[in-house]
Amino acid sequence: MKLNTLCLLTLALSSLEPTSAYPGLAQALTNLPTLPKRQTVTLLADLQTLPDTALSPAGLTIKNILLHNRAATSPQDLTTVYTPPGPLDSAACRASTCCVWKHVADTMAAAFLNPSTSHCNSLARQAVRLGFHDAGTWSQSGGSGGGGGADGSIILAPAELERTENRGFVDGIAPQMRAWYDSWHDAYGVGMADLVQMGATVASAACPLGPRVRAFVGRNDSAVAAPEGRLPPPESRDAEALVALFADKTIGVRELVALVGAHTASRQRFVDEVLSGLPQDSTPGVWDAVFYNETASEDPPLGVFRLPSDQALSRYPATQESWKVFADSVGGQTVWNDDYAAAYVRLSVLGVEHINDLTECTGVLPLHSA
Ligand code: HEM
Ligand SMILES: *[C@@H]1O[C@H](CO)[C@@H](O)[C@H](O)[C@H]1NC(C)=O
Ligand SMILES: *[C@@H]1O[C@H](CO)[C@@H](O)[C@H](O)[C@H]1NC(C)=O
Repeated sequence: MKLNTLCLLTLALSSLEPTSAYPGLAQALTNLPTLPKRQTVTLLADLQTLPDTALSPAGLTIKNILLHNRAATSPQDLTTVYTPPGPLDSAACRASTCCVWKHVADTMAAAFLNPSTSHCNSLARQAVRLGFHDAGTWSQSGGSGGGGGADGSIILAPAELERTENRGFVDGIAPQMRAWYDSWHDAYGVGMADLVQMGATVASAACPLGPRVRAFVGRNDSAVAAPEGRLPPPESRDAEALVALFADKTIGVRELVALVGAHTASRQRFVDEVLSGLPQDSTPGVWDAVFYNETASEDPPLGVFRLPSDQALSRYPATQESWKVFADSVGGQTVWNDDYAAAYVRLSVLGVEHINDLTECTGVLPLHSA
């Protein structure tokens, strides 16, 4: 029995990762029961029609990530480092798409960390939420040209920024994004849509233990406010409605559960204004899986404020299983980081018309910190 199982496991492993030999086996075995489910494999925009032979490097990478083809493409990249070919104003730097982004990402990373603790700060958590609130306004049923998505409109359209669900940005990350845009837009062509998504990926990578989500640039900006009603209401506690809302963005249950793990770094201000500032887990400066345990716990630590939506998702049959996988105190963090990364890449290209035109700049991100 034991032998049979092991053989099967080895077979399954070797077909997934042809290069993995015994050294990785122990870890792989720990992760095995939690290998990603192929549930959301919906391609997006131009990737739905372009043949593989017409794909750019970024197009192929994103396609593989959207298809959960992890044997070919990992949704995180923990090693690539981009070295600028010259100073910001040099011809060599201007000729390399990622060069200005190296300067942007370094500036962001410094702004996102508390220098004395190296924990991520309020600007970092707002940057992650901002990335979601810009891109998450896209919906499949809205159709192509239906508006919304990762287009920078959350900052460029005042009417969108002022919405209730965006409360809090206006005195924090929004003026910061504006200032960064003013520094790099005219002189270096940095767009708001890219800036907002880069902010979210720099922030998660900068937070201790956070994923290094693969980062792409080249999106188009829009100053037209996204359609209303596409983001989850802050007070929502209806898991079924949340699952449906995200399904309309091509985000499946497991991806939804991975994404709300971003609340590991969160401190609510407006759900309960009397308890403003209370975190959603006991370690808001660290991107740890403790959030999943504490949200599902019958006996949460004092001072942790659980969002009704998170509690609902931790109990709802369709999402509970993934919740448990990420809550696992041994392998949860590793599985979650990859799942979050895959789901975030999907989120970060929602509404982008020509995904194949993007360029990968993951190398500019801070390296994963333990
Ligand atoms: C089920 C869907 C979701 C609901 C109902 C929800 C709701 C909320 C609420 C109510 C807050 C507290 C806001 C406040 O009072 O200041 C919050 C904060 C936050 N959310 Fe979500 N959220 C959801 C999904 C997501 C996703 C997908 C992400 C990112 C991938 C995300 C990232 C964040 C972050 C980082 C914060 C902390 C902001 C801060 O501390 O400044 N959320 N969310
Ligand atoms: C949380 O972690 C503790 C300690 O490891 C464990 O006893 C408990 O069962 C976990 N709870 C959940 C809901 O995962
Ligand atoms: C941006 O818009 C231009 C003009 O419509 C288009 O050619 C280009 O492919 C778009 N880029 C992306 C990333 O969608």
